[in-house]
Amino acid sequence: MKRALISTADLSLDELGRLLDLAAEMEREGGRALCQGQILATLFYEPSTRTRLSFEAAMLRLGGQVIGFADPRTSSLAKGETLADTARMVDQYADIIVIRHPLEGSAKVVADYADKPVVNAGDGGHQHPTQTLTDVYTLRRLKGSLEGLVVGLCGDLKYGRTVHSLAPVLAKLGARLYCIAPPELAMPPEFLTEAEQRGALLGQTASLQEVIGELDALYMTRVQRERFEREEDYERVKGTYILTKGLLAGAKADMLILHPLPRVDEIAYEVDDDERAVYFRQAGFGVAVRMALMAALLGRAKRTVLEPEPEVASTRARGWPAAARCGNPRCVTQQESYLAPEFLASGGEPASWRCAYCERTI
Ligand code: NCD
Repeated sequence: MKRALISTADLSLDELGRLLDLAAEMEREGGRALCQGQILATLFYEPSTRTRLSFEAAMLRLGGQVIGFADPRTSSLAKGETLADTARMVDQYADIIVIRHPLEGSAKVVADYADKPVVNAGDGGHQHPTQTLTDVYTLRRLKGSLEGLVVGLCGDLKYGRTVHSLAPVLAKLGARLYCIAPPELAMPPEFLTEAEQRGALLGQTASLQEVIGELDALYMTRVQRERFEREEDYERVKGTYILTKGLLAGAKADMLILHPLPRVDEIAYEVDDDERAVYFRQAGFGVAVRMALMAALLGRAKRTVLEPEPEVASTRARGWPAAARCGNPRCVTQQESYLAPEFLASGGEPASWRCAYCERTI
């Protein structure tokens, strides 16, 4: 079975439920050598602590082994190798590939050129699906269910890939959401479609104070300094939100505080002792979640968790305007010139199209 995890849109509601169930089993029972003899390759072209280490710990706990790099300067990228060539080569060394890369859509390129399962561990400002699985696992584990929960996504919703992945999944699992960001850091509309269609978007506001009392969970994020084109734009918005004990006084007594980490200054240290602060536990749950995902992708789970790759009708199949290219300067198709442009119909009237790599509407 060929299957990759590039975007959370790839996961059906049933698959999400089965993955979370399997993650709970991994947390309870451990990896039981399910992936003995399997090799994970971790290709990290961008900094990471939690994501890379938790993938590696997960594979070791499953009884498998790990190869990879954490500093692209030591890889053949430094000699000018394309992503496609790297993918075709690593495919012959490993059984499963995890990639983090600064360009949006880069994980799809690796998945297209490799035969082995590929997991997106963050592609620029686009997606970070395994962080989302960790986030919703944390919510389900600590709240029982996501049905009816009110979740606030707060901070850099423009460049933060974790919230791009998370918003549609929260909506799918029955939660409702507030987007809390200044207008300059608002969520791109592409990532709110699912929530809007399900009537799950409660509102968008710049004021955390205004909505904090309604929230069952608050998901704080860091301003993504490295994705700003101009340093002065970052300087203007940094420090917009700082969660303090004072601000928490207006929150529910059982409101969970999540954060994908790393934190910069958006959660004051004084909050760490509050029993609602669960961000370090959340990071810990990432191991069980990634164990479940890799066991499922490698076909080592006792039962079917993921279905075969769904067929998506794209313009590639129809040979649609080869001359049209995605206009997003951070899209992988702008840098890797051998890639054939590919677009997906977004539906709606009038019909619109989004890039199959970075998902931005064109
Ligand atoms: C996030 C990421 O890399 O997008 N970190 C992580 O994987 N936990 C969040 C961030 O860097 O702000």
